[in-house]
Amino acid sequence: MKALVMNEQWIEPAIAYAICRFDGIPSRRAMGFHLMIVDEDGSRRPWSIVVVRWGKKVLGYVNECPHNNVNLDWERNEFLDPYGMRLMCGKHGSTFELGTGRCIEGPCKGRDLMPVALTVLDGDICVVGVRLVEDDPSCNI
Ligand code: FES
Repeated sequence: MKALVMNEQWIEPAIAYAICRFDGIPSRRAMGFHLMIVDEDGSRRPWSIVVVRWGKKVLGYVNECPHNNVNLDWERNEFLDPYGMRLMCGKHGSTFELGTGRCIEGPCKGRDLMPVALTVLDGDICVVGVRLVEDDPSCNI
């Protein structure tokens, strides 16, 4: 699903791409999505993101550890530390604040995950601020 949305920070209307139902991710859980993004030059490339739901909030980050540029989840959809309070990279164990994406422990301490702009529209979690290839996103639900 695609929708036009307005936000006072955006000069032009942005396209919102629905990737999942809001209630498709339980609170305090994270889920990965493998999408296809269209770059400014028109080329397409795979784009993996992780979405964290915390109560009524949703947070998104590119699923790429700033240490070795690998996916964070070494087990499918296992993104959180054992306490469920931080994102964690499965390769060397770096942990990241949920709200900021800042690495606070591990080999990439002080570096940040790349944020992904999300919004919730009509019960759907939507990606905004990028152009996606339609009819290609695949949810890991
Ligand atoms: S690759 Fe993520 S902590 Fe090393």
